[in-house]
Amino acid sequence: MNEYVLNHPLITHKLAILRDINTGTKEFRELVTEISTILVYEAMWDAKLEETTIETPLEKMDAGMLNEDNYAIVPILRAGMGMVDGVLNVIPNAKIGHIGLYRDEETFEPVEYYYKMPEGIGDREVLVVDPMLATGGSASATISRLKQDGVSKVKLLCIVAAPEGIKCIEDDHPDVKIFCATVDRELNENAYILPGLGDAGDRVYGTK
Ligand code: PRP
Ligand code: URA
Repeated sequence: MNEYVLNHPLITHKLAILRDINTGTKEFRELVTEISTILVYEAMWDAKLEETTIETPLEKMDAGMLNEDNYAIVPILRAGMGMVDGVLNVIPNAKIGHIGLYRDEETFEPVEYYYKMPEGIGDREVLVVDPMLATGGSASATISRLKQDGVSKVKLLCIVAAPEGIKCIEDDHPDVKIFCATVDRELNENAYILPGLGDAGDRVYGTK
């Protein structure tokens, strides 16, 4: 079991609004950001802190701090961009890489159209973000591409996951932990998640 599912009544509440067909672009974006921030907190439980000394107004103390330079966020374009602000709320100095993938409408296979990573990506822990994990093809291809560049530590953050997508990542990348807000029932014949929230990219950008 490589997946961690947020299990909290407030997340269930937020997801109900996010999924609703009547929720507009502004609120949709805000909720994606808010849920993404919570996902990062969960994903960072094992973060290694560097020991340092700070001075409070009263005395010196040993403190632990995160070296944010060790982290990169990689949104899968387009919809993944909607989650970046939520991650930056918590790790504001993380580097950002971009990968552009779209799903071929007939085969559902991911097609890469853009790839640009920060220098030294192989030395960083990478948080791949995409609201939807449907067949898992896009996330799996992204992780494979990052591994080609020497990345060895990857976590996948998504909002709605399908069982099929989780299985795909577990099969292809058993070393990768998945953090998601919910696991939905199944995929339909067009590889859309049911009940899902529709096309995340279109809802983030208001394109349909
Ligand atoms: C969506 C979503 C994921 C992908 C998930 O992107 O944001 O990237 O589909 O599907 P999969 O798990 O079956 O690969 P889409 O290809 O629609 O592109 P977009 O973000 O540009 O809308
Ligand atoms: N991509 C989406 O945006 N939504 C889905 O349900 C599946 C893939």
